[in-house]
Amino acid sequence: MIEREVIHTNKTSKRIMDIMQDISEFFVVFVKILLELLHSLFEKFMTKKLKDISGEIILITGAGHGIGRELALHYTAWGSVVVCVDINEKNNEETLKKAQRLMQNSVYAYTCDVANRDAVLKLAAKVEAEVGRISVLVNNVGIMPTHPLEQHTAEEIRRVFDINVLSHFWTLEAFLPQMKQQGRGHIICISSIAGVVGLTNLVPYCATKYAVRGMMEALHEEIREGPYKDFIKLTVVYPYMTNTGLCKRPKVKFPSMLGLLDPKEVAKHIVEAHRSNVNETTIPGSLLHVNNWCRLLPLRCGLLLKDYIDSGVESDL
Ligand SMILES: NC(=O)c1ccc[n+]([C@@H]2O[C@H](COP(=O)([O-])OP(=O)(O)OC[C@H]3O[C@@H](n4cnc5c(N)ncnc54)[C@H](O)[C@@H]3O)[C@@H](O)[C@H]2O)c1
Ligand SMILES: *[C@@H]1O[C@H](CO)[C@@H](O)[C@H](O)[C@H]1NC(C)=O
Repeated sequence: MIEREVIHTNKTSKRIMDIMQDISEFFVVFVKILLELLHSLFEKFMTKKLKDISGEIILITGAGHGIGRELALHYTAWGSVVVCVDINEKNNEETLKKAQRLMQNSVYAYTCDVANRDAVLKLAAKVEAEVGRISVLVNNVGIMPTHPLEQHTAEEIRRVFDINVLSHFWTLEAFLPQMKQQGRGHIICISSIAGVVGLTNLVPYCATKYAVRGMMEALHEEIREGPYKDFIKLTVVYPYMTNTGLCKRPKVKFPSMLGLLDPKEVAKHIVEAHRSNVNETTIPGSLLHVNNWCRLLPLRCGLLLKDYIDSGVESDL
């Protein structure tokens, strides 16, 4: 009888000890969070240190047109070695020529369908032999079928996932090991504002852009818990509608405030986010904060704001 009571009090005191420990651990985390908050606030007022990218070998997918082409030109101008990849050989050659006018010997062009895993793995071997190991990967390709859900064909839905999502896995499979071998690297993925808010006529497209966001957040966790934590960086970018022709029928209510972006500006913002080691950014940067705050409010408040902004895309059919 007495023995049983002793065991019982032992158990209770152990539970109390455990709870005390959980609470004290939480208290430490809480203080650390406060310190990080102060740190972030402090950083806001400091001029950002931008890292030097002149020695990097940067591979850009979808470099033949639009944002990808402007990125190729920006990176070339910064003195990086740039590997342009596109399915459209003619456009990619055009990018190559433009970039070579800036810097003769540090630009390469390869034709590849990045939705095709075998083709990507072959490309990686070829690039490694001819140019060297990639240190920065910019996953930029994307297509954008734009119509109501019922009018998307099964073929179209598969294709948009192949290009906008699965291609990321093939390029990661091909190039992440090269980064690990070098003990450094940076992966940049171009999602979209459609990866931050859902939009009419873009149900499959939004799903792919949200997928990229989830993939990057999960990969960040995996890298953060592993040995490459301080050496492999990840940046995900959510640009607003940009004037590249990808967005065929944009609907804009406030052209002066939220008109179509210039791909040159978008590329500049992406390179800046890369160089300042930003984890994620919308373009323009304010949209991410507006979204995060709105998500704290009841759904209907956010919808009122969405209706007021009333921008997106019309069906292309
Ligand atoms: N334009 C916009 O409004 C906008 C807004 C937000 C995000 N984005 C995203 O930015 C990225 C670039 O968009 P953009 O407007 O510059 O597009 P774009 O159509 O101007 O250029 C895309 C390039 O990718 C290439 N490409 C397509 N499929 C390919 C494949 N399977 N393999 C290799 N190359 C392929 C095309 O040939 C083209 O040269 C996309 O991911 C897009 O979703 C665009
Ligand atoms: C992102 O956040 C982490 C915190 O885990 C930080 O260490 C890292 O440098 C940040 N930037 C990038 C580009 O990964």
